[in-house]
Amino acid sequence: MRGKFITIEGTEGVGKTTNIEFIQSWMDTKKLSYSITREPGGTPLAEQIRELLLAPREESVSSTAELLLVFAARAQHLNQVIEPMLGEGAWVLCDRFTDATYAYQGAGRLMRDDLIRELELLVQGSLQPDLTLILDIPVQVGLARAGERSAPDRFEQEQVAFFDRVRNRYLQIAQDNPQRCIVIDASRSLEGVQAQIAEALESFWETV
Ligand code: TMP
Repeated sequence: MRGKFITIEGTEGVGKTTNIEFIQSWMDTKKLSYSITREPGGTPLAEQIRELLLAPREESVSSTAELLLVFAARAQHLNQVIEPMLGEGAWVLCDRFTDATYAYQGAGRLMRDDLIRELELLVQGSLQPDLTLILDIPVQVGLARAGERSAPDRFEQEQVAFFDRVRNRYLQIAQDNPQRCIVIDASRSLEGVQAQIAEALESFWETV
């Protein structure tokens, strides 16, 4: 049987890393075979593209170049990791996927959705995640958390208005895709956040 494809999304500082560990322990309790990966990245080539995308630089980066790099990394990642793992029956937990492109390049950079849709079809055909957890937090809270961690990357250098657009698009995506997406209120305590994630995973499990 084909594996399940779970993605986790959100703006900066929502706590994806900690919660991915929590989902990993849930998959362990279900004795699943799985792979945890991320975008942009997940293969040596795609990780190099990630470095190109995230590095702060003097040169201003064309939104089209950024969009194509994101999808170039995704094409490689799908070909080398995601499709083979799912085909072998393993579950794949991916830190961000194409919803991030609609949120960051679409809403953030104001790129046209129909262009993104064409690239999405080219790169992934009909493949969509089976379950997407969208961690939601007020932008300012998330940015403050992310700022404590490390020097800002090229995206984290953006203004609050950019991240407000990103956050709103994620919420819109959730509304438009209620069968796939679950919004997690990530402003609660860690236990509160993980209780919501556990509930989402258990409901999903019943459908598997
Ligand atoms: P993160 O995985 O550490 O959150 O960083 C990845 C950054 O890349 C994040 O700022 C969002 C951005 N990104 C896009 O702009 N478009 C995409 O399609 C993906 C997957 C990520």
